[in-house]
Amino acid sequence: MALLALLLLTLLATVLSSSSAKITSEIGVCYGQGGNNLPTPSKSTQLLQKLNATQVKLYNADQKVLNALKGSNIHVTVMVPNELIINMSSNQTLADQWVQSNVVPFYPQTMIRYILVGNEVLSNSFKPQWFYLVPAMKKINQSVKTFGLHNIKVGTPLSFDVVESSVL
Ligand SMILES: *[C@@H]1O[C@H](CO)[C@@H](O)[C@H](O)[C@H]1NC(C)=O
Ligand SMILES: *[C@@H]1O[C@H](CO)[C@@H](O)[C@H](O)[C@H]1NC(C)=O
Ligand SMILES: *[C@@H]1O[C@H](CO)[C@@H](O)[C@H](O)[C@H]1NC(C)=O
Ligand SMILES: *[C@@H]1O[C@H](CO)[C@@H](O)[C@H](O)[C@H]1NC(C)=O
Repeated sequence: MALLALLLLTLLATVLSSSSAKITSEIGVCYGQGGNNLPTPSKSTQLLQKLNATQVKLYNADQKVLNALKGSNIHVTVMVPNELIINMSSNQTLADQWVQSNVVPFYPQTMIRYILVGNEVLSNSFKPQWFYLVPAMKKINQSVKTFGLHNIKVGTPLSFDVVESSVL
């Protein structure tokens, strides 16, 4: 499930970018914020650095966390919430505004490297966002270009039920 209660240390090889299904041997961390007793963003950043984490994936684009990650050399993935996908699929302004407020203020000091559009929209269970996903990704892609964010790739996370047979 998307919101893991705490820092979930995926000490497995992380499939960070499902779009390219690249498996790295580096430590990746998924940073969920569903709990109410979490370490502060700066504590979390220290923890990530202690763990030699090289990548962190946020299930949102929390400004405090993104600020705390400024100046670290941890690669960061942010996520466009599912709720925005349908509107974004037909609205470039909305995509531009999302990127402008959630990415531009932190980049490049915070090493944002991926923007994932939605969370597990392409899972086996049908979701209404299904048909809007690719158009929304294109809008975000265009915004990334508009703002000149050269090191950022756009993708969407696959749910593990899609890749189950090849992973398990
Ligand atoms: C992190 O890297 C440093 C230097 O390479 C090493 O000394 C340390 O043991 C590593 N920490 C962990 C938790 O792997
Ligand atoms: C999507 O757009 C419609 C029409 O502009 C608006 O009423 C609705 O609140 C928007 N949905 C979200 C999640 O922003
Ligand atoms: C597109 O998004 C912008 C920014 O949220 C909003 O102001 C505008 O009304 C939206 N356009 C349409 C056609 O929904
Ligand atoms: C995203 O943008 C890059 C260059 O800015 C382009 O090469 C790529 O084809 C675009 N992808 C989509 C899906 O539009």
